[in-house]
Amino acid sequence: MNIMDIDTVDIDLDQNAVVIIDQTKLPNDIVLKKLRSPKEIWDAIYKLEVRGAPAIGVCAAFGIYVIAKDLAKDFFEDEEGFFKAFYEQKEYLDSSRPTAVNLSWALNRMASVLESHRGEARAVQVEALKDESIAIRDEDIFVCKRIGEYGVTLLKDGDGVLTHCNAGKLATVRYGTATSPIYVAKEKGLHIRVYCDETRPLLQGARLTAFELFESGVDTTLLCDNMSSALMKEGKVNAIFVGCDRVAANGDTANKIGTSVVAAVAKQYHIPMYIAAPTSTIDMNCKSGDDIVIEQRDGAEVTDMWYEKPMAPKGVKVFNPAFDVTDYELIAGIVTEYGIAKAPYSESLKEIFRKKNNS
Ligand code: MRU
Repeated sequence: MNIMDIDTVDIDLDQNAVVIIDQTKLPNDIVLKKLRSPKEIWDAIYKLEVRGAPAIGVCAAFGIYVIAKDLAKDFFEDEEGFFKAFYEQKEYLDSSRPTAVNLSWALNRMASVLESHRGEARAVQVEALKDESIAIRDEDIFVCKRIGEYGVTLLKDGDGVLTHCNAGKLATVRYGTATSPIYVAKEKGLHIRVYCDETRPLLQGARLTAFELFESGVDTTLLCDNMSSALMKEGKVNAIFVGCDRVAANGDTANKIGTSVVAAVAKQYHIPMYIAAPTSTIDMNCKSGDDIVIEQRDGAEVTDMWYEKPMAPKGVKVFNPAFDVTDYELIAGIVTEYGIAKAPYSESLKEIFRKKNNS
């Protein structure tokens, strides 16, 4: 089974289940997991069995559809009860992770479709939710491909690209965001060397990005996070491509913890830092990075995980934010499915949305 041939998130309509590649088992085992109950869906997102902003959004859309289909049986003749239960489950799924805006974005899209069918038969409402969840999945595939086509214009044959975390196929349905230009470059016959930060503490770079790129035949090199400055100083990196969990209206960008370190070092060595961002990850209601809620995770991820024995004194305090914010001044461009936004982002991001609304 090749990871690239399987969608990261899918729906089994017959069994009414969300199907995910369980990313906690990679790179050693490729395991497909079916999620049926609200708790199973919540846990899969919280535990990072499915992760990466766009994949979380698609999983939430399929998830709320699966849940609503079951609820429709319990509330066959009770529309008020059905809507109330739907919103309770929507809030529940939305509480699984705070930083990636795609989660609430996808759930809000699903809720507004349901609202537009108020008063109609339950079967019609459920069908509309199914169609919307499939549309969200299909759009993700299309959008990632477009990001790749814009992003590849920033690359030339022989370039070295550094990436952090996994904004790859495993963080979306197919192609990825930050990796999409690399896959498109490969299709065009360009040779791109990709350097993957291992991405402490959960190792998304080593377990996921290095895995999917290597499987795809991309020239892939893995490094520890604290080696990227040396790599940049040696002149091996021509551009940095990373994904994002939320872009604020001024261009400040939340992404995996450590991204802002890469950005600061890249500035020192005059290397452009590009953010690959589907418009679903741009939150124009969020003024700046100060308004982005950063998820804090269990300290055991730093002290114990991956080790046979704990590798820190028992009881020591641990700082373990899952994301950090890269200031807009450090970003050379934000690559969206509607083109590449450049500074000043407060203007160019509005222009991206104007293009989207007119398309
Ligand atoms: O905690 P994770 O693994 O969900 O964090 C993922 C990232 O930070 C990705 O870079 C981001 O979601 C973009 S995915 C296209």
